[in-house]
Amino acid sequence: MQVVPGDLTAQLARARRVTALTGSGISAESGVPTFRDAQTGLWSRYRPEDLATPEAFARNPKLVWDWYAWRRQLVAPAEPNAGHRALVALAGCVPTFELITQNVDGLHQRAGSVNVIEFHGNIARTKCSREGVLVEAPADGTDSPPCCPRCGAWLRPDVVWFGEPIPTAALEGAFAAAERCDVFLSIGTSSQVYPAASLAEVAHAAGACVVEVNPLPTPHSGFASFVLTGPAGTILPALSEALARRPRAITEPGR
Ligand code: OAD
Repeated sequence: MQVVPGDLTAQLARARRVTALTGSGISAESGVPTFRDAQTGLWSRYRPEDLATPEAFARNPKLVWDWYAWRRQLVAPAEPNAGHRALVALAGCVPTFELITQNVDGLHQRAGSVNVIEFHGNIARTKCSREGVLVEAPADGTDSPPCCPRCGAWLRPDVVWFGEPIPTAALEGAFAAAERCDVFLSIGTSSQVYPAASLAEVAHAAGACVVEVNPLPTPHSGFASFVLTGPAGTILPALSEALARRPRAITEPGR
C-alpha cells in the first residue's frame, strides 16, 4: 500500500516552509482520549459546558479542578508515539518547520519538538484565575482547587476554555505560520473548533498545499490537496521516511 503519494513527497521536498497543526488524534495512539470520536471521545461522556468554560469554573470550581486533575493523571503515563516522533524527523528535513498544537498534553515537546505553539495551553501548568499569572500548584494535592499564594483566588489549569481568547502570542504566531507556509499539514483534528480550524483555511487561501492526516473525513477534506486516510502513527513516519529518502531539490523554487 502506498500511503504517501509521490507528488506530495515532491511538494515537501521543495517546500521552504512547512507548518503543521495537530489535534487530539495524534495523541490517541499514546492512549490520550480525543474529544469528538464516537464512544471514546471525552465529549461523548462529558458536557463541555459543565467542565470547560469560565462559567462552569465559577459555578463549581471543585468539579472542574477535579476533572482536569483526572485528565492530568491520564496524560502523565502517556508516552509520545511514532506520529509525534515523525514530526521531529520531518522538521529536520525542511528549512523551516512550525508546529502548532491544540493539544494540552505536552507530548510533542517530550518527543523532541521545539518552539511548539500551544494554541490551547498546557494541562501541566496552573495559573491564578484572577490575575492569570502562572503559579505552581502545591504538590500535596489536598486543596481542590488550591488558592493563589499571592492573592487567594482559585488556581485553575492553564488551558483555553470555550468562550476564552487564544493567548495573543500563540494566536499571532499560528496565523503567521499558516499564512507563510508552502505546505500545511492538518493532523488528527476534526477541524470543528475555531479559530484553530481557520488556520488550514488561511493557509489554503494563501496558496499553500493543504494535507490532511486523519482516519476520517473532516469539513476540510474537500479543499485539501492530499487526504491521507489513516492513523497519524502510521502515516507520519511513512511521510518523513519518504521525504528523508528523497534528495532535496535545493534549486527548485518554492511555490
Ligand atoms: P477531536 O476529538 O474533535 O478530533 C479528533 C480527530 O482525530 C478526529 O477527526 C479523529 O478522526 C482523529 N483521529 C482519531 N484517531 C486518530 C489517529 N490515530 N491519527 C490521526 N487522527 C486520529 O479533537 P480536536 O480536533 O483536537 O479544545 O479538538 C479540538 C479542540 O476541541 C480541543 O483542543 C479541545 C476540544 O474541545 C479545548 O479544550 C479548548
